[in-house]
Amino acid sequence: MELLSKIDLQRTPRHVAIIMDGNGRWAQKQGHMRLYGHNFGVESVRETLKAAKELKIDFLTLYAFSTENWNRPKEEVDGLMDLLVRSISGEIEELMSSNVRLMSIGNIEGLPQSCIDELHDAIDRTKDNTGIHLVLALNYSARWEITNAVQQIAQKVKDQSINPEEITDDLIGHYLTTSEIPDPELLIRTSGEHRVSNFLLWQIAYTEFHFTEVLWPDFKREDLFKAVLDYQSRERRFGMVSEQLT
Ligand code: FPP
Repeated sequence: MELLSKIDLQRTPRHVAIIMDGNGRWAQKQGHMRLYGHNFGVESVRETLKAAKELKIDFLTLYAFSTENWNRPKEEVDGLMDLLVRSISGEIEELMSSNVRLMSIGNIEGLPQSCIDELHDAIDRTKDNTGIHLVLALNYSARWEITNAVQQIAQKVKDQSINPEEITDDLIGHYLTTSEIPDPELLIRTSGEHRVSNFLLWQIAYTEFHFTEVLWPDFKREDLFKAVLDYQSRERRFGMVSEQLT
């Protein structure tokens, strides 16, 4: 039976976030350079986006480049930036025709200018689209994001436009790069690693995690369906007891 038919479409997560991992190992297993794996990873991005639309998911966030990724060999970093620019410009017509709205989170201004320009252009062109939101985490680190929010809030307190008692959970959320994005209900990490790696630390307070051994370039439609089925098999209690939820 098709996995899709087992999914309750009324109870799919509104926001799924993915740590796409294993491109390098996938390529090396086949005797290729790591960039070969990243190239194939783009095909998995396409498939996953289509599958997410089938599930009526509203937000798909992909960890495409972390702040820590700058420490990789220059050749790989340059190749990844080039791939990002090419992928965004190559996919823009498809994003438009399938009504996808592109967004980004992270320290975008720290990216190469060609990447900033391509990204701003694509975000602007797709801003009135009403379908799924594709959120690219680029030059992203949760500790950077939280530190940045704290600095902005501290400045407001210093300017006396906020009192310390007014600093709430909601207010902090407002200063994060995800301010217009709901928290993810489901976080997927591929390649058998069981870490969060500085991704969405504030936003995953109540998120369900799904870990899979599948390497990102092998991650396809059915793998997203498996993750959502796993999510639907769990009971989310938000600190309450089962009886309070019925
Ligand atoms: C992790 O695999 C993957 C990345 C750091 C980059 C992911 C980027 C893409 C798939 C391209 C994204 C393109 C768009 C348009 C979103 P890894 O290199 O850490 O693998 P390893 O753990 O096997 O070394």
